[in-house]
Amino acid sequence: MLNFDEVKPGSQTNSGGSSSTSFGGVQTLAAPTIPAPMVPPATNSSAKATGAGLTGVEKITFNSSRISVDEKRVINSRADLNQLVPFKYEWAWQKYLDACSNHWMPQEIQMSRDIALWKDPNGLTEDERRIIKRNLGFFSTADSLVANNLVLAVYRHITNPECRQYLLRQAFEEALHTHAYQYVVESLGLDEGEIFNMYREIPSVHDKAAFELQFTQELSDPNFHTGTFETDQRLLRNLIGFYVIMEGIFFYVGFVQMLSFGRQNKMTGASEEFQYILRDESMHLNFGIDIINTIKAENPGLWTPAFQQEIIELIKQGVELELRYARDTMPNGVLGLNVNMFTDYLQFIANRRCKQIGLTEQYPGAKNPFPWMSEMLDLKKEKNFFETRVIDYQTGGALSWD
Ligand SMILES: [Fe+2]
Ligand SMILES: [Fe+2]
Repeated sequence: MLNFDEVKPGSQTNSGGSSSTSFGGVQTLAAPTIPAPMVPPATNSSAKATGAGLTGVEKITFNSSRISVDEKRVINSRADLNQLVPFKYEWAWQKYLDACSNHWMPQEIQMSRDIALWKDPNGLTEDERRIIKRNLGFFSTADSLVANNLVLAVYRHITNPECRQYLLRQAFEEALHTHAYQYVVESLGLDEGEIFNMYREIPSVHDKAAFELQFTQELSDPNFHTGTFETDQRLLRNLIGFYVIMEGIFFYVGFVQMLSFGRQNKMTGASEEFQYILRDESMHLNFGIDIINTIKAENPGLWTPAFQQEIIELIKQGVELELRYARDTMPNGVLGLNVNMFTDYLQFIANRRCKQIGLTEQYPGAKNPFPWMSEMLDLKKEKNFFETRVIDYQTGGALSWD
């Protein structure tokens, strides 16, 4: 187990201990600063799951009958998982194609102006430097948490090839995002130990990571199988925890802050990295909404009033954690932003997320103080905005604001 205060600031010590067992990337982050438990502990995740679907690694039954599209289901499907076609979920395949059309690489963005500004003692204020470091700290591990959740927890339980195709593309994009943060950290000459350990050393960063890890941990248990009412709900909760709360709420204070630098013609390279990442994340979120709503439609019994209330409470906890993150990253107003604006924004975003998955809006009347954020998805429009080199891989993939 990794503890919040196990590694002291500045230390590069590996905390692997003397055990010969490797970490899988989903070990516990102790959570001293958040109320616990946030989700009820698993009670029967290893219960015999009579309704579980295939995984794709079953023995091939020679000369068995061919699959029909009607047999395909997002979870608990008994149709062969190694046959991409015939398509049932065109939205999943289309998102895979769109994601490939938006391909980009982090190191193609120029960092020279950022480096000059960062190294100039008068180039940025301390408040501005704090925002950049905090966001690199949060995102650099957050994207690893998302990737691990996809690969170690979610993938096995999604029993549809076209959805899996998108998950594989998404997993690669999460690797690119982690690469992008590493590239910025290296370019600016930041202390890697400080940045990459923030999720163990800075409470506002730690708390968001610990909140998410609980969802991964219960599904990565090898004894966990879908196919029961409880475990199917747990998978759905994981998907909402990651797609709706992590990628749909926890990323957005950072996105607004980092894109605000670019709007002021500062740290334009780092800002542009985040702009590309925002575009990818918007699609991840949209895919998540589609897969959540499809599971709900195919398994209407899961969406009970009690479960809806549980999800609403999780979303509200997410808003509180993100608000604390906003306060911590920005103790003083800067870049034309202040914490009150983030209160409005997070409530606006949370309303939107609730509506997207069929829940009642929890913050009636919340307004969006950052309408410009929607324009940030259109990289062509912004091509000359940051006055940096933009390589646009867009070849026709449809993009829309989430
Ligand atoms: Fe990401
Ligand atoms: Fe993502």
